[in-house]
Amino acid sequence: MKLVKPSLDWKEQHEDYMEEWGFERMVPSSLDFTGFPSYEEFLSALEERAQGKGQWVPSSHYFLVNNMNQIIGMIDIRHELNEYLRTIGGHIGYGIRPSERKKGYATYLLQEALAKCKELNINQVLITCNEENIGSAKVILNNGGVEEDLFITEEGLMKRRFWISLN
Ligand SMILES: CC(C)(COP(=O)(O)OP(=O)(O)OC[C@H]1O[C@@H](n2cnc3c(N)ncnc32)[C@H](O)[C@@H]1OP(=O)(O)O)[C@@H](O)C(=O)NCCC(=O)NCCS
Repeated sequence: MKLVKPSLDWKEQHEDYMEEWGFERMVPSSLDFTGFPSYEEFLSALEERAQGKGQWVPSSHYFLVNNMNQIIGMIDIRHELNEYLRTIGGHIGYGIRPSERKKGYATYLLQEALAKCKELNINQVLITCNEENIGSAKVILNNGGVEEDLFITEEGLMKRRFWISLN
């Protein structure tokens, strides 16, 4: 397994990955290319986002790829927290393709992402999940998450907030 950065080389695998998600809302949404006129335009928008242009804080994006070069999961690491990320989004968003869930991949992917956070000097990592997302809460707990509180959004969505200390 390896982490790779999104690029044109992964276009077909990315399409295959998104097809498998079907109508389920893709997480992280930053790696959903739906609505872009071309893959190249998606990549250039992602690059601007990664650099923290416009409304975005700087971020890093990776695909988790297996030995057969199939994309198994995706992760988005936000380098800073703004108001929305501090309460709802957190530092990290991740998802695993439906056919590869419950095999330990998200636990592994978050572990790898935490190593990237360490390199970025993000030593206190905030990760959130919806209250009913038992799988995601377990992934966070498996990686040393300590629950702080429950944040209720304006829409009434309950977000569990966890911190992982990398010190
Ligand atoms: C949540 C998600 C990332 C979990 O990925 P995964 O690869 O299945 O997670 P893991 O295999 O590492 O499982 C971690 C633990 O959660 C458990 N688990 C996973 N999915 C679960 C589910 N739907 N219900 C209950 N437990 C679940 C696993 O059994 C495992 O338990 P263990 O640690 O006791 O062995 C994946 O289901 C997904 O992509 N969901 C949609 C996107 C999403 O919700 N992303 C997270 C946003 S916060």
